[in-house]
Parts: sequence; structure tokens; C-alpha cells
Amino acid sequence: MRTTPLSTALLNAWAAIHGEYWLLWTLHWRAKGTGAYSDHLLFQRLYEARRPEIDRVAEVIAAVGGAHLLNPTQAMKAATPFIESIEALETPDTQKALVAAHTVMAALQEADQSAKNSPYAMAVNNALAGISDSHLEAVYLIQQRINGRVVEPSPKPNAYKPYGHTLGSTSGLISESSEKTNTIRYLSGVLVGGLILALMEARKR
Ligand SMILES: [Fe+2]
Repeated sequence: MRTTPLSTALLNAWAAIHGEYWLLWTLHWRAKGTGAYSDHLLFQRLYEARRPEIDRVAEVIAAVGGAHLLNPTQAMKAATPFIESIEALETPDTQKALVAAHTVMAALQEADQSAKNSPYAMAVNNALAGISDSHLEAVYLIQQRINGRVVEPSPKPNAYKPYGHTLGSTSGLISESSEKTNTIRYLSGVLVGGLILALMEARKR
């Protein structure tokens, strides 16, 4: 069975949470200096919250597209660009955790958008909204840890599309088809206009 835009978007979100999980677990081990132990515990709280989310999204994918889509090797590979792109940032680990949370939220939102016209829209929305909500809690905790200020969300859109683009290609198809519709409308307008003129000419004679 081929993947649909919805299952692709869900796989992308699944990969993003996988990546976030491994990244946060590493930040937990890496905590050092002033506040090392509290950071160690904060990151632990954050990575532990991701495990049931990985499970939830996997089960949604299995329901919507089939369990055959849940390939373990592919899943580990798919999580890599997420981890790599955030690890490449030259920022403190708390900042990386914040970017990771924002990026996962963007991936969840994209999957939610892809579900909009499907019969599973409400169920997918419900499953993903809970996960997004717990990421908002993560954003709050990390922001407080950094300096207590609200940070503009800074997702990394290229970090979470290992299974391919969904909304981009869909909107491309939409604009292509509406372009065709406009051309057809224009040509039929010219044709009808020409017929009216020809009839008027014929009446004059
Ligand atoms: Fe530990």
C-alpha cells in the first residue's frame, strides 16, 4: 500500500518525536555546571514524557495507514536529521531542547492539517492535540529554565520531513489544478464571446 499525505505527515511527526526523545535523553546525561542536577531531572522529565507519545503516534499510523509502515530501521534513520540539525546549533542545551519542542509542535500541526479532510480528522486531532499540549508544558518549563522570557517559536522545518513533504506537494497540486481551471474558464469565455458576436453579425444581415 502506498503512503498517503496523512500517513506521511504522521510518520514525519513520529520521526520528530523519536529524534526529540533521543536528543533529550542525551541532554539529561550531558547536564553539567551550575544547576546540573536540576537540568538532569528536567531533561529526564521531558524525555520520559515522549515515550507514550511515540507509542500513541505509532498506533495512529497503524490505524490510518497500516502497521507495515512502522519499520524500525527506517524509524531510526528518520530520526537522525532531526537530531543532527538541532545538535548543529551553537546554543546551550536548554535552547536546543526548546527548538526541539517547537519543531515537534510544527510537525504535529502539519500532520493535523493533513488529517483535515479525512474521516479520521477528529480522532487524529484529539491524539495530536494532547501531544502538542504536553509540548507546550515543555516550552514553559524550558523557557523558565532559560530566563523566564517567552521565546518566539523557532521550529526547524527541514528537520522533520524524512518521509517526504505533505502540505507543500498538496498545495502545489491545488495551485496547478486551479491554474488549469482558470485557463479553461478564459478559453470558454473567449468562445462564448465569439459566438455572441457571430450571432449578432448574422442577425444584421
Ligand atoms: Fe538517567
